[in-house]
Amino acid sequence: MKIAMVGSGYVGLVSGACFADFGHEVVCIDNDPAKIEALEAGIMPIYEPGLAELVATNVRAGQLSFSNDLGSAIEGANAIFIAVGTPSRRGDGHADLTFVYQVAREIGAKLSGPAVIVTKSTVPVGTGDEVERILKDAGTPHRFAVVSNPEFLREGAAISDFKRPDRIVIGAEDDFAQDIMRDVYRPLFLNRAPILFTGRRTSELIKYAGNAFLATKITFINEMADLCERVGADVQDVARGIGLDNRIGSKFLHAGPGYGGSCFPKDTLALLKTAEDYDSPVRIVEAVVKVNEARKRAMGRKVIDALGGSAEARGKKVAMLGLTFKPNTDDMRDSPAIAIAQALDDVGVNIAAYDPEGMKLAAPMLPWVEMTDSPYAAIQNADAIVIVTEWDAFRALDLDRVRSIVNSPTMIDLRNVYDPVAMADAGFAYTGVGRGG
Ligand code: UDX
Repeated sequence: MKIAMVGSGYVGLVSGACFADFGHEVVCIDNDPAKIEALEAGIMPIYEPGLAELVATNVRAGQLSFSNDLGSAIEGANAIFIAVGTPSRRGDGHADLTFVYQVAREIGAKLSGPAVIVTKSTVPVGTGDEVERILKDAGTPHRFAVVSNPEFLREGAAISDFKRPDRIVIGAEDDFAQDIMRDVYRPLFLNRAPILFTGRRTSELIKYAGNAFLATKITFINEMADLCERVGADVQDVARGIGLDNRIGSKFLHAGPGYGGSCFPKDTLALLKTAEDYDSPVRIVEAVVKVNEARKRAMGRKVIDALGGSAEARGKKVAMLGLTFKPNTDDMRDSPAIAIAQALDDVGVNIAAYDPEGMKLAAPMLPWVEMTDSPYAAIQNADAIVIVTEWDAFRALDLDRVRSIVNSPTMIDLRNVYDPVAMADAGFAYTGVGRGG
């Protein structure tokens, strides 16, 4: 089976490399010549564990190649995936579909045989219909069908999420499309991965509903964490206590500084726009978006309070451990670190930071933050340490060493990496999230 993947960003590259690894012949296409050149030289445009190796192996085996030229790359392809970006449109939060439609027009003009066109990009309900219309308008003489096949890849775990998915969702309107998609995912059928065939619009909505539900789950436990602090309860135990109920489930109940990343913030906003367009409000998600935004700023105030209030905080030094929105990625998009660093800067706090992968992208976004080359360099002479991202490197800090180099042994642990009692025993003024017990 021959697959063309249009868009060699995060989703396109991971999906393309994994399809190649299944034994399909895959071409990853991008209109950025520099990106294609780099990929051909084995340089990945993103940080994702295992990706460089997977790409190299499949390029060597002749299963995976890269191209700038959509027309020749889609020649003979049974499935053409659209995996281009759908950023939030500036101003109104709608998903910006310019790239998706551009690619659809180009495919329409250059299609040279029967194929399914599959949207992997996260797109609002009805986009598949529009892509189909664009292809029809292009007047292609070849048989085609438009399919929705959303991705559910977590950054940092994308390859295993692709190869061992909880489920595969395919929105296909006819047998021609379903048959090709069955072949595309055959290796996963054999692994007994559940596959849900459904209508195209339903499939498009599943992606948004899934992400909005997860964002809601996180936001729920975050508000419970605030309540725990007031009533003297422990949110870790609350999460465990409710999570053991199979109907709730234990995952995504880790209280923290609020969700960030490339998906939840963008997709919740886009869902709200769809809801507005169809005059069918999803008020829970409206609340989730507001609460999460406010939370990121509130985390800055939590740090300032630990420093004794804004007047006391002025001129003090805070060490920020972790900047990315979560570990094992270099992604800074909507990271709580940004709001926290802003809040601290507003009251004149000096910030030194360390992040294992994120500093390159973070430095231009946070020019007032001093980037250092180790956790201990950031901690040196600090008046408070803030754990913003739960990288493994921060889970086993040498606490004796930390205490000996800080100005004040104060830690605000926004990911609940450490045990409050053990930290108090180790001589730290420790604040976690929702650890009121
Ligand atoms: C998410 C979805 O999980 C994935 O299925 C979708 O395709 C893209 O969006 P990703 O953004 O990579 O993936 O990260 P994820 O691991 O889901 O975390 C998202 C955010 O939620 C992070 O900021 C993380 O720190 C936060 N989070 C997650 C919590 O605060 N608590 C939790 O319990 C889980």
